[in-house]
Amino acid sequence: MKEIQITTTLTCYDHIGELPQHIQKLMEHAVNARKKAYAPYSKFRVGAALQLENGVVITGNNQENAAYPSGLCAERVAIFHAGAEYPNVKIQQIAITATSDNHINKTPIPPCGSCRQSIAEYEMRQDEAIEIYFMGGEGKIMKSNSLKDLLPLVFDKTYL
Ligand code: THU
Repeated sequence: MKEIQITTTLTCYDHIGELPQHIQKLMEHAVNARKKAYAPYSKFRVGAALQLENGVVITGNNQENAAYPSGLCAERVAIFHAGAEYPNVKIQQIAITATSDNHINKTPIPPCGSCRQSIAEYEMRQDEAIEIYFMGGEGKIMKSNSLKDLLPLVFDKTYL
């Protein structure tokens, strides 16, 4: 018997101005998308923006439903849109921002487990890492170089 340690490395930026310029722009797309979220039940708005390698930016925001589980997270709205519209175009980066209508979240908010699993599928499909940047409503931004850093021991098609 032995213990196995899994470590992960993230980069932390103090504020949006510290990000590379093209990522600042991508995060601005995410912020705009967040403002258009349909979140009447949770009052928690999430915006996601995907940079595709062909230069196109795809955005998404959370879409809630009176039957709660029928709603969908911002990240999956965006990534499924990209998969539907540009099935063979690689995703380079995803920028995510989330905050409550009731208070401004100031710590980076990572994608939920289901969204991580969905992003993993696309990373596997394109055989290239997707950089993920995530923040709250303001403040620090975290970056992972690949989805794998957010979801070690990921379940993927190699097990099927
Ligand atoms: N939400 C997202 O859009 N992305 C996540 O990764 C976590 C949660 C949404 C779902 C729901 O509309 C609201 O945030 C509260 O959970």
